[in-house]
Amino acid sequence: MSAFDHIVILTGAGLSAESGLSTFRDPDGIWAKHRIEDVATPEAFARDPETVLDFYNQRRRGARDVKPNAAHMALARLETEFPGRVTTVTQNIDPLHEWAGTRNLVHMHGEILRTFCMHCGDRMPWEDDLTVDLVCGRCGNTGGMRPDVVWFGEMPYRMDEIYEDLARCDLFLSIGTSGNVYPAAGFVVEARRAGAHTVELNLEPSEGVSMFAEVIHGKATEMVPAYVERLLNG
Ligand code: APR
Repeated sequence: MSAFDHIVILTGAGLSAESGLSTFRDPDGIWAKHRIEDVATPEAFARDPETVLDFYNQRRRGARDVKPNAAHMALARLETEFPGRVTTVTQNIDPLHEWAGTRNLVHMHGEILRTFCMHCGDRMPWEDDLTVDLVCGRCGNTGGMRPDVVWFGEMPYRMDEIYEDLARCDLFLSIGTSGNVYPAAGFVVEARRAGAHTVELNLEPSEGVSMFAEVIHGKATEMVPAYVERLLNG
């Protein structure tokens, strides 16, 4: 019988790094090659939609060809075998959690394999490149088809559900995130307020490392399977 019965897991780009997807703030990361204000804000899209769409076209192509790693698989196993509730909240826009089998999943920053029309709001799965001359299938307008990804200055998705889960959890795991971006970086505070045990599993100390009761440093594909095994059969 586990000591816990309600786990919330927050994941970031470090979880997908060993699947071959770049992180954001590592020395060779995405924000070392692109300026956020040029490619990841509503203003950038209004000013230069081709540059923004091309930035996400590159990432969409990359996300189609990668595979879940042992850390994704371990988290899917945890959801399947853990007797209590497990909610995975990911900042990642790649599909690797679902491809590993995780089902109770919240993509708070959206999904690179979905698009929506800014004119009519129609949302749909989308695997090809997006271009400015694409015609929306529902409203017939062009110029509005954008990645279903939350940009800086926009509200992340399903925040009410996330805060409800955090208020009830008794174990909070933060995996592969630098703790630089809110509201995700503040989830550990909500979990502590709920009395949860909080664990950071990351390659190196995050910005918020001092707020965690337990800290494990290492590579996700090594420490996450080991931690899940401990949780399930410890
Ligand atoms: N195993 C575990 N952790 C790793 C690994 C690995 N193999 N490789 C890198 N990391 C860690 C890094 O040390 C870093 O702390 O993963 C973290 C990645 O941090 P970021 O690149 O800042 O990514 P993330 O925290 O997910 O960014 C949050 O910021 O730019 C926005 O919307 C974007 O969702 C993103 C958000």
